[in-house]
Amino acid sequence: MDKSAKDPSKIQSMFTTIAPRYDLLNRVLSMGIDGYWRRFAVGQLPKVENARILDVATGTCDVALEIMKRFPPDAKVVGVDFSEGMLELGREKVGKSDYRDRIDVRFADVTSLPFEDNTFDGSIIAFGIRNVQDYKKGISEMGRVVKSGGKVVILEFTSLQNPLFRVPYRVYITKVLPFIGELISGKKGAYKYLPSSMLEFPAPEVFKRAIEETGLKDVRYFKLTFGIAAVHVGTKR
Ligand SMILES: C[S@@+](CC[C@H](N)C(=O)[O-])C[C@H]1O[C@@H](n2cnc3c(N)ncnc32)[C@H](O)[C@@H]1O
Repeated sequence: MDKSAKDPSKIQSMFTTIAPRYDLLNRVLSMGIDGYWRRFAVGQLPKVENARILDVATGTCDVALEIMKRFPPDAKVVGVDFSEGMLELGREKVGKSDYRDRIDVRFADVTSLPFEDNTFDGSIIAFGIRNVQDYKKGISEMGRVVKSGGKVVILEFTSLQNPLFRVPYRVYITKVLPFIGELISGKKGAYKYLPSSMLEFPAPEVFKRAIEETGLKDVRYFKLTFGIAAVHVGTKR
């Protein structure tokens, strides 16, 4: 993929363009499996007393809301994103939920998080890290703001390894997905970027090493749904 495709201002405006149809497209394109992937990822976060969790690239706040459903009532979440379009929809969803007093939604870039070191018990990013040009910087930041012993959880598509599913998956990603994406969103182009960003993301083992290089320890990963997605979990030293 052309490196300029991940230019932060291009990514920002692309997400603002697709924001109004983002949730619907997620459900349709993943055939509803995305909810299970998020629940699995949220399940890796530490359920400590008075948990403070950071949801990075929160978008329309699905992960932030999932955390609230699964954590005790003393937990709080801060959700950050750098697309105003996505944040607007996220704030609206949170505002209509029972959790509006416990989720704080803010503008921030993952590569320079506006929080002190050791602030959170865990940080999580779902389907956001592959869009970040310097993704190691993003992961370092997610680790920096987490307390010692806290977790960094990353849910992302992977380059599918399973030989049986490789070909049909490629056809789905490169042909069907852009077609449905454009049909529902009415926006040309945005759903052309998605296939290349999904197919070019490192394999889980390679990504694990990249996470270790940011200084996190005990990095593990779980492949989900034949390895279409993976959840990586690292611990702050
Ligand atoms: C595919 S959406 C995922 C949203 C949400 N986490 C979910 O699970 O549906 C990716 C999000 O990452 C955000 N994003 C991409 N790069 C970012 C960055 N450098 N800093 C903050 N947010 C970023 C985009 O604005 C977008 O809202």
